[in-house]
Amino acid sequence: MKAEILKVLRESSGHVSGQELCERFQVSRTTIWKVISQLKEEGYEIEAVRNKGYRLQESPDVLSKEEMESRIETRTIGKRVEYYAETDSTNIRAKQAAGQGAVHGTLFVADRQSAGKGRRGRSWDSPEGTEIFMSLLLRPQFAPDKAPMLTILMAIAAAEAVRDKTDLEVKIKWPNDLVIGGKKICGILTEMSAEIDYIDYVVVGVGVNVNRKEFPEELREKATSLLLEGKVSIKRSELIAEIMQRFETLYEAFEKEQSLRFVQQRYNEQSVNCGRRVTVLEPKGNWDGIALGINGAGELLVENEAGEICTVYSGEVSV
Ligand code: BTN
Repeated sequence: MKAEILKVLRESSGHVSGQELCERFQVSRTTIWKVISQLKEEGYEIEAVRNKGYRLQESPDVLSKEEMESRIETRTIGKRVEYYAETDSTNIRAKQAAGQGAVHGTLFVADRQSAGKGRRGRSWDSPEGTEIFMSLLLRPQFAPDKAPMLTILMAIAAAEAVRDKTDLEVKIKWPNDLVIGGKKICGILTEMSAEIDYIDYVVVGVGVNVNRKEFPEELREKATSLLLEGKVSIKRSELIAEIMQRFETLYEAFEKEQSLRFVQQRYNEQSVNCGRRVTVLEPKGNWDGIALGINGAGELLVENEAGEICTVYSGEVSV
């Protein structure tokens, strides 16, 4: 009910009377008063005027379950939220919950991670209070070889959501990093549990540097945040809700298409690599070429120095 009251207050342009809230939620005035007091304690500025009711004046940048549930307006994706003030890694939480039957679309969000995981065994720096650390649990009906394409869809959803909430020129670095001016603002780590022909679950973990003012020395050249780039702080819950909304639309279309052809051009237009010289980093050796964009499977097409078009399936490219 707290999430619903918050939503009613947020969506109302004026005051909402206590009576109206009582009738709507079928509870007493004392219960409404208690919820309002809790919200105030959590940092919401709520004006209470006699004979008029309550008006939400300002929301804090908190990531409580209620704050997120009051903003996310999807059908399945992010419809259920599990929130942790601190946890080891939201990907670990999501995988554990998947084993215990958590439903498709459940979103795991933390304010801080003590063991945040990056791609290729790297760690993901996860300080408290300013960033987004979230993992989405999916139980797709399609074949396991399609799972990596979900990462591409999440990269598009996150890039477009950031652009929607800021004026920043965010780009996608293949396969799924978001960068601004060459520095990383978002990383995605997708993990899967599957049999040869059947996906048990996929966890898409997303880390976004939102309101961070400082990075450790070793990251300063490589990473940035939306606050450092745009000079304005963003409500993390708003950005999460926008990402969920966009991902749901893309996911539903992908379920029908079973290919990335419908977003191929859209991805390529947002790609920092497209039409540019890249170095493909492969275990058998690095090589240079011109990136042409992704194909319908999300693989990067690169023209090598002999003029051949090669398909890069996995790994990394440096620009
Ligand atoms: C990368 O290396 O670029 C991927 C980083 C992914 C980080 C996110 S933060 C939320 C989720 N939980 C984790 O432990 N990792 C992902």
